[in-house]
Amino acid sequence: MGKSSIITEVPGLPLEARCVHKSFKGGDGSELQVLTGVDLRLARNETVAVTGASGAGKSTLLHILGGLDRPTEGEVFVEGTSLTGLEDEALAAVRNRRIGFVFQFHHLLREFTAIENVMMPALIAGLEEHEARTKAEHILADVGLSERLRHKPSALSGGEQQRVAVARSLVNDPVVLLADEPSGNLDADTSTALHDLLFELQERVSLSILVVTHNLDLASRADRILVMEKGGLQRDAMG
Ligand SMILES: Nc1ncnc2c1ncn2[C@@H]1O[C@H](COP(=O)(O)OP(=O)(O)O)[C@@H](O)[C@H]1O
Ligand SMILES: [Mg+2]
Repeated sequence: MGKSSIITEVPGLPLEARCVHKSFKGGDGSELQVLTGVDLRLARNETVAVTGASGAGKSTLLHILGGLDRPTEGEVFVEGTSLTGLEDEALAAVRNRRIGFVFQFHHLLREFTAIENVMMPALIAGLEEHEARTKAEHILADVGLSERLRHKPSALSGGEQQRVAVARSLVNDPVVLLADEPSGNLDADTSTALHDLLFELQERVSLSILVVTHNLDLASRADRILVMEKGGLQRDAMG
């Protein structure tokens, strides 16, 4: 192997961050340094939990890893492809096809039914309507919502809304699922049921999960726990 192999990422590693920095400009022109060198390698099928104080930069990191925001410095690779050089359209395609997002609040479109919400990313990816519908039906069945296809988000419970959000995030068979406090708004039993579902789905497909959570049930079931602290990801004593 030549010298170049040292700087070549492991082929197919689902997600990698190298020395990611992010700062925001304040209204008074001052600079807030949120991330000051985040390194992360997420293996295939691995689940990593990220904890850390409020304001530590966890959501900022997730947005950058998922191509929703760009780092000030450093680089993110999805399956070996650097997001840095991608035009907005190509970046949107990676987001749509390779990465799933689940947030604390479901972010479903309120005017649309459960199945329409789940179909949306598949239609954006170019599937025909009947194909998107079939896929959405299957994945909604997988998350236990066959009886709720035509319900709008407001007619669903919090747990059901998050299940729809999970179905939507996975409809295009992403390699990485980024979840930001997915059970942060649910009671203990509903949270555990959601976590069961995530791990059950992960067993069936190849999926790496990076989840920001303060939920002990979820964190304890992850392969590793990392703590966002002082602008970087530190290994947790427990993880
Ligand atoms: N778009 C933004 N513009 C300015 N400051 C931001 C922006 N997004 C986040 N921040 C700041 O970055 C810090 C980290 O925020 P965040 O990533 O949301 O933390 P966490 O998710 O760990 O609670 C906070 O101080 C927050 O106010
Ligand atoms: Mg946050």
